Amino acid sequence: MKILVTGGAGYIGSHTIIELDKAGHEVVVVDNLCNSSSKSLERVSGIIGKPIPFYEVDIRDRKGLDKVLSEHKVDACIHFAGLKAVGESCVKPYEYYENNINGTLVLIDALRSHGCKNLIFSSSATVYGNPAIIPITEDCPKGRCTNPYGQTKSMLEEIFIDIQKADPEWNVVLLRYFNPIGAHKSGLIGEDPNGIPNNLMPYITQVAVGKRAELGVFGNDYDTHDGTGVRDYIHVVDLANGHVKALEAIRRNCGLAIYNLGTGHGYSVLDVVNAFVKANGVPVPYAIKPRRPGDISTCYSDPAKAERELGWKAQYGIEDMCRDSWNWQKKNPNGYKD
Ligand code: NAD
Ligand code: WQD
Repeated sequence: MKILVTGGAGYIGSHTIIELDKAGHEVVVVDNLCNSSSKSLERVSGIIGKPIPFYEVDIRDRKGLDKVLSEHKVDACIHFAGLKAVGESCVKPYEYYENNINGTLVLIDALRSHGCKNLIFSSSATVYGNPAIIPITEDCPKGRCTNPYGQTKSMLEEIFIDIQKADPEWNVVLLRYFNPIGAHKSGLIGEDPNGIPNNLMPYITQVAVGKRAELGVFGNDYDTHDGTGVRDYIHVVDLANGHVKALEAIRRNCGLAIYNLGTGHGYSVLDVVNAFVKANGVPVPYAIKPRRPGDISTCYSDPAKAERELGWKAQYGIEDMCRDSWNWQKKNPNGYKD
């Protein structure tokens, strides 16, 4: 299939392009580079051994999208483009709603007017809020999101559900990612956050590489085995492969489908720190800090539906994730900025 990948220069998009190529798909990438560098695509191009058609276009730019879609007849879209920083979204809610929601509406209209009604959407476990059931199944009620970023994901899910209901020619797969970490085994591409990392693994790797003095562990009084927050970390290459499997569902005219993409295993912050030190033999000094506002205690998936219906299951474990995150960071201490 020929796939429009929005946000393809970003962390998850760049890894997904490689797996799409392996599975025999063709891609065309649209990204405004607001949170990424075109270097990621140059490196992906080196890994797959072919050029990647890339348009520096904002998904809110209807004319820009029309040009891309006129030049490339695409069969499906994988829609990664969006702003994703939870804290920033609380400071700039308008910008988050405008970019993520308006951008997606422009994209949907452009796609359908060019005859493409197949889409995979990057949703998030954040839509479960403080989850009512652990492990979280897809029919767990959606919770109250504590931040505008999460609200955009939850609202966009509703928008996709309504659009697909009104026009069953659409096939829409909503993929709820848990916590993606890790990097391609080459160490050529990986996660490259701007400024101080918000997420755990990029913070750990920046401490390990000497860019930051110590990791702050946000709370050790949660109701978990060691008091620190528990999450379902998933290797980004496993996540990428989930999209390849979701495309097969689209080919089978799945209509509307929702899947968790997680491993089903919960690791605490200290479990991850210890796994990182064990896998890589580098120290990660840390200090216990107060809880981070808005954080929940425990969040991990029941990934059985994706295995049953998509034939997808995560292959990599926490050691692989820690090894590959470190391989990327140590080879690229400044990310793509070198
Ligand atoms: P990322 O920031 O690395 O990638 C997103 C890409 O979208 C960036 O390259 C950015 O430049 C681009 N973009 C943003 N707004 C755009 C616009 N208006 N037009 C064109 N391009 C635009 O983030 P990521 O971690 O690769 O996440 C990809 C998707 O997955 C996002 O939608 C994110 O919300 C979702 N998601 C991520 C996580 C995570 O922890 N990384 C978890 C759940 C869901
Ligand atoms: C993981 C654990 C922290 C940093 C966020 C978004 C979510 C999703 C993924 C997109 C928690 C602890 C973290 C640090 C720490 N993104 N931590 N010190 O909070 O599960 O999810 O990213 O959809 O929407 O909310 O991920 O990596 O920020 O935190 O102790 O410096 O690590 O408290 O327990 P989270 P995270």
